[in-house]
Amino acid sequence: MVHERRRLLVAGNWKMHHDHLEAIRTVSELAVRLSADTLSRVEVSVHPAFTALRSVQTVIEDRGLPVVLGAQHCAPQDQGAYTGEVAPGMLARLGVRYVLVGHSERRQLFGQDDATVASTAAAVRRHGMVPVVCVGETEVEREQGRTEERLTAQVSAGLAELAGAPALLAGSDELEREAPLVVAYEPVWAIGSGATPSADDVQAAAAVVRGALADAVGGETAAAVRILYGGSVNAANAADLLAGPDVDGLLVGGASLKAESFAAIASQAAAAALAAAGRRR
Ligand code: PGA
Repeated sequence: MVHERRRLLVAGNWKMHHDHLEAIRTVSELAVRLSADTLSRVEVSVHPAFTALRSVQTVIEDRGLPVVLGAQHCAPQDQGAYTGEVAPGMLARLGVRYVLVGHSERRQLFGQDDATVASTAAAVRRHGMVPVVCVGETEVEREQGRTEERLTAQVSAGLAELAGAPALLAGSDELEREAPLVVAYEPVWAIGSGATPSADDVQAAAAVVRGALADAVGGETAAAVRILYGGSVNAANAADLLAGPDVDGLLVGGASLKAESFAAIASQAAAAALAAAGRRR
């Protein structure tokens, strides 16, 4: 991150791992391992499975842990006959701040399409939470040179409903420095594969995303949106992947499951933020 106004966000997507007891242990250990210095520069969120959300929320609230609660998914509807789904209002009641929307696993394995991404992102905002809208090209699209086109299309389609309801993106006091919207750039081929793009490629993609955001929601809001990188992030590559001026954080899967490696990534992100601040002076 080089933009002074945007605080880094390091988000841990626990996917279908950690039952509620493992989740309690992990978030407790994570809080111990996050230094005050790291937390002064980086916001850290965890996104447990639905069954663990209530437990993790209770631990965070009871002990005042410096970790923000996130979820991995929700329904676009407020309520109704949707067997197996979880409503955005239910997450808001648990103190959830960030909700992943349109993760590539939801798109590929559960048929989530752009229209549902758009309505879910708007629903999350309507309930006062912040959507983390995930976009990214597949390996084939990248080989065909279609990365820019795909990112632009996904941002524009995924934000279509929010773009039509600017009041939902107006900042609140709590969120005054950042827009209440996060976009995660996650190349599908990099998720869980151990492969990552170069720092230059991540920055180029983040710049494309920011340009598409400006078209969708206006330049001022776009400048305040945090853009995360996700896909095979670990403590060794975190600082490098964050080097670009449009990259404002990380979405971490596998390496967020253990408190030690996730805290190390947050600490690397804080170091990168400090270095970027030094370059600005
Ligand atoms: P990974 O997952 O860090 O295990 O590659 C990232 C994600 O899917 O959000």
